[in-house]
Amino acid sequence: MDTFPKLYTPRLILRKMDIDDVPSLVKYANNPKISDNIVNIPYPYREPDAAFRMSFIVQGFKNKNRYVFSIESKERKELIGEISLHFLDRHNNHLQLAYWIGEPFWGQGLVTEAAQAVIKFGFEQLGADLIYADCSRENIGSQKVLLKNGMQQQPVKGDLIMFRITKEEFHG
Ligand SMILES: CC(C)(COP(=O)(O)OP(=O)(O)OC[C@H]1O[C@@H](n2cnc3c(N)ncnc32)[C@H](O)[C@@H]1OP(=O)(O)O)[C@@H](O)C(=O)NCCC(=O)NCCS
Repeated sequence: MDTFPKLYTPRLILRKMDIDDVPSLVKYANNPKISDNIVNIPYPYREPDAAFRMSFIVQGFKNKNRYVFSIESKERKELIGEISLHFLDRHNNHLQLAYWIGEPFWGQGLVTEAAQAVIKFGFEQLGADLIYADCSRENIGSQKVLLKNGMQQQPVKGDLIMFRITKEEFHG
């Protein structure tokens, strides 16, 4: 895959992050309710963080181990969040799924919609055998996103709940 993929859902375009996304990225990521749940997002979140993020995304795509999509709202024509797939260990073909969306857009089914497209992409285009995600016990919204996408909850490890779906379980 030489060019960054672009995925379409009814309300969203999932695509490569662009320099023009920086203002929206800073506007929506600069929120402790986001940074508390996402490892690579600091708070406060400023332009240099967004610039670093863009180089991290470009490098991940070059290395073919990280696919970080901007979530663009078709209606608003701006970045409203991110959704990513990450091969933590290339030997096992397991992908980690992570995401966030700006607080004004919570509860509209948008991340459920984005995750559906990205999980399909992970299995069909990246050849993953398994896709997993983990989230805290308190993060009910994220748990619902994963369950609604057919993921199975695994035994709880400490404060984190892991969800996973295999290629065989996926009915795209
Ligand atoms: C978690 C998060 C990604 C959910 O995104 P979203 O687009 O609001 O999710 P959806 O609208 O697709 O919601 C899926 C379900 O969860 C419910 N939900 C969403 N947020 C919720 C919340 N805070 N509490 C309870 N339920 C919630 C929705 O109502 C929906 O349920 P329904 O289908 O039964 O009506 C979003 O809140 C977010 O970005 N949070 C901060 C970052 C984060 O936690 N990322 C995940 C790390 S594991």
